[in-house]
Amino acid sequence: MPGRLDGKVALITGATGGIGRATAELFAREGAGLVVTDIDRNAVEGLAASLEAEDADVLAARLDVASPENWSEAIESTRRRFGRLDILVNIAGVVDWPGIEETTKDAWDRVIAVNQTGTWLGMKAAMPLLRASGNASVINTSSVLGLVGSGAAAAYQASKGAVRLLTKTAAVEYATCGVRVNSVHPGVIATPMIQELLDEQGDEQPDIRRTPMRRAGSPAEIAPAMLFLAGDESSFVTGAEFVVDGGLTAH
Ligand SMILES: NC(=O)c1ccc[n+]([C@@H]2O[C@H](COP(=O)([O-])OP(=O)(O)OC[C@H]3O[C@@H](n4cnc5c(N)ncnc54)[C@H](O)[C@@H]3O)[C@@H](O)[C@H]2O)c1
Repeated sequence: MPGRLDGKVALITGATGGIGRATAELFAREGAGLVVTDIDRNAVEGLAASLEAEDADVLAARLDVASPENWSEAIESTRRRFGRLDILVNIAGVVDWPGIEETTKDAWDRVIAVNQTGTWLGMKAAMPLLRASGNASVINTSSVLGLVGSGAAAAYQASKGAVRLLTKTAAVEYATCGVRVNSVHPGVIATPMIQELLDEQGDEQPDIRRTPMRRAGSPAEIAPAMLFLAGDESSFVTGAEFVVDGGLTAH
């Protein structure tokens, strides 16, 4: 059966985390050539080996998204290996939970550097190859915490709100260049990022209690949103917010 991403090449950041891995595995099954990247070199090489064992065409690269030099190297490796790039999925992220007064300057700077600056640096570095594709898609991972206030996680909320608007301005800037740009907004998803909270509080975790479906989502429930936005079925979708949250922001 033909894959929905046959002939396309995708670069994924944060590819060894919960949502990143599910996305990489789904994209591989749908026929994409893959550049899997993460700050954790061993993990990304392990992921590439497991995808190759399933016959995927994969390049692994260590990429700290906050580093412009790392981005230049990753894009150059992509160009050398595949000669093209059609899909950029910015998934790498870090969280910091304190509110306005308890957030430290160091924690603020780190969260903004990875989540916000990293997303901009990725689009900046990848755009020449994406424009050359002529039929490209960028997917930036925001959050429900990029849409509504929670009363905590000040740096994280600021960074995810910025990702939402950075996505929209890029969508407008590149709309006639064959590059679509959209954001995905997950709700509570069971991944290593929030595993400690889920272990401690289970379904009594306040955000799960506020979720109409009364459960956390799984990474495998986010990956199909990434796939839809990456492929040609979403050819008229740009600047949009794709919310996948079990209804959390519906009330
Ligand atoms: N899990 C949730 O409930 C949830 C909800 C909304 C949004 N998100 C967002 O989804 C994305 C993926 O998160 P996840 O839940 O899979 O978390 P995760 O912790 O499982 O994965 C995050 C990945 O990012 C990588 N990473 C961290 N810093 C990096 C850096 N500087 N450069 C490159 N890679 C780096 C980590 O090594 C890890 O593999 C994040 O942007 C997160 O903010 C998650």
